[in-house]
Amino acid sequence: MSNNQMGDNQWWNDFWTKNPGASESSKNHEPTWDGLCWIAQTQFWEEVFGQFASGREMLECGSGTARVSRHFARHGFNCTMLDYSEEGLRLGQNAFQSEKLPGRFIVGDINNIPFPANTFDVVFSGGVLELFDNVSRPIQEMTRVLKPGGLFAANLVPRKLSIQTIAECERTLVHSARNLARGRFRDAVRVTRFPPDGYYISRATLADYVETCRRAGLESVVGLGTSPFPALALPAAARRFYARRMKALMPWWRRFNHSQSKWTEWWGITYAIYGIKRDSVKS
Ligand SMILES: C[S@@+](CC[C@H](N)C(=O)[O-])C[C@H]1O[C@@H](n2cnc3c(N)ncnc32)[C@H](O)[C@@H]1O
Repeated sequence: MSNNQMGDNQWWNDFWTKNPGASESSKNHEPTWDGLCWIAQTQFWEEVFGQFASGREMLECGSGTARVSRHFARHGFNCTMLDYSEEGLRLGQNAFQSEKLPGRFIVGDINNIPFPANTFDVVFSGGVLELFDNVSRPIQEMTRVLKPGGLFAANLVPRKLSIQTIAECERTLVHSARNLARGRFRDAVRVTRFPPDGYYISRATLADYVETCRRAGLESVVGLGTSPFPALALPAAARRFYARRMKALMPWWRRFNHSQSKWTEWWGITYAIYGIKRDSVKS
């Protein structure tokens, strides 16, 4: 069973076949928007895992090419990757093998995780929970397979007003100007959207996710608005300048990501949610 609004795993098999490097950040020495977002995200989870993970057995649900698990496998976590896309898992497995990292790759549905209760110290998902209209089932399943005291961790890109919504005005103007200059008049009147058309993202709020986590049996649940810098459509020189400014602001970025203020929840482009499984949860 899958309540993923983009349908069954065929959508994702096609996606990973067409975009095998889609979720990998660039390896340029020059700072880039996606490279810096990746660094800020992994630093954030390193800090949360360092503070709350009770052990090193980690499950990533909806792992795709397993870039997050690969990072934590390099830091000594024993990673199991679950995804219902065989193609995503195949790419992840190749990447693990090329670095000689140990890891288990399991084809399965996050709504029905094929592991017994109380198995993992950390259960993580990135870019997955927002794909479901009813997020209770995946969160209950992720919590079920956690050991008591284990860490639930998720990040996602919500459908909401954020600094990225405002940045879409700039992106639309730049794309229109470029298309006009190339004589592509039909494309010039198209508005760029975030998330793009055809990519389902639920309307759940941060409060909805936090409440669902509590009901599933998690305590000390923290929900945060993260990622303060929007993607912009800039010419190459301005793009390099923007990335250098972002890099200089990394210490502030780190504080932003951990802040629990209302304005960072509004401004942030992504959500990060974590919590600890209560001892008393019935499996
Ligand atoms: C946006 S990608 C994120 C991949 C990876 N976590 C990352 O951050 O690069 C979403 C992934 O979730 C997987 N997925 C979606 N619905 C799923 C389900 N019901 N069960 C298991 N995996 C699922 C897709 O196959 C895809 O690989």
